[in-house]
Amino acid sequence: MRVLSGIQPTGRFHLGNYFGAIRQYIDLQDGNEAYYFIANLHALTTVRDPKLLGQLTLDAALDLLALGLNPERATLFVQSDVPEVSELAWLLMTGTPMGLLERCHAYKDKVAKGLPADAGLFTYPVLMAADILIYDAEIVPVGADQTQHIEVCRDVAASFNHHFGETFVLPKAKVLDSSAKVPGTDGEKMSKSYNNTLELFEDAKALRKKIMRINTDSRPMEEPKEPEGDHLFQLYSLFAADAEREEIAALYRRGGFGYGQVKTALADIADRFLAEPRRRRAELAGRPERVREILADGAARARKKATAVLERVQKACGVK
Ligand code: ADP
Ligand code: TRP
Repeated sequence: MRVLSGIQPTGRFHLGNYFGAIRQYIDLQDGNEAYYFIANLHALTTVRDPKLLGQLTLDAALDLLALGLNPERATLFVQSDVPEVSELAWLLMTGTPMGLLERCHAYKDKVAKGLPADAGLFTYPVLMAADILIYDAEIVPVGADQTQHIEVCRDVAASFNHHFGETFVLPKAKVLDSSAKVPGTDGEKMSKSYNNTLELFEDAKALRKKIMRINTDSRPMEEPKEPEGDHLFQLYSLFAADAEREEIAALYRRGGFGYGQVKTALADIADRFLAEPRRRRAELAGRPERVREILADGAARARKKATAVLERVQKACGVK
């Protein structure tokens, strides 16, 4: 299968990004033709500082590679290195009903809050559709919040096909239900907009400190507690093997423990999990030319496919 996904470099990746999205990308690189890109054009709708955007784009590449994205198995590239995608976005926009975009959450939520929205945010789902369609992608692994955008992509592609004849492959979203919502340090959904994140590559000591400060309820230590639904337990479970998870669950059910004990266990297991990615990241950070080479190589491969698909679309609608 041809698999594709993108992730925005709008901040450093956190556990929600990893367990909700990135982990799936990495799993799917085996046995598929996978394309993954860093969506810097999408990020421009929020990051308006050029230096920061460049830095976050490089950080995203380093993080993905350190987490196990293998450039020999998957094609990793930066969105703007394939300019054909912007042209396809325009071709698609000419047939996209306003109403379809007005219903999209990112735009609707902003307008509902009375915030000013720009045309970039409004047409964001069309650029995302172009990202997917330009590689003839069949499967798009995403977090649960992105499924609406995949529906828009299918609608836009289907209506183009209807009007101009079969041109696009209709993609399917692939969502990991089990990790739809990774909780943050306050128990709400982990998100950089809520300031409750645990970042994957923050300094080990700082991460431990943040874990020790995770909000918990104030029930007495002796009281047995149900682990399911407890956000500290949910976070621990993300890293734990079944036996380890059961051990902590038993502790909750038995009572007579302190949350500090679970927090220490979480910090330890996160450390263990992150040891290898941290080592790989440090090693890659010392070889920026190698990272640039990986991205250039990925962009060349991606562009080859994108150019061929764009030409097919241009011919179908009469601009070539
Ligand atoms: P944020 O909410 O921090 O701004 P993004 O919107 O950039 O994160 O998310 C990038 C990807 O990570 C999306 O596919 C999204 O579904 C996934 N993701 C983000 N936060 C979580 C979370 N708390 N639980 C599960 N998946 C998440
Ligand atoms: N909008 C996605 C997000 O915020 C990122 C993205 C851009 C994407 N283009 C894509 C994801 C194409 C999948 C396919 O997470």
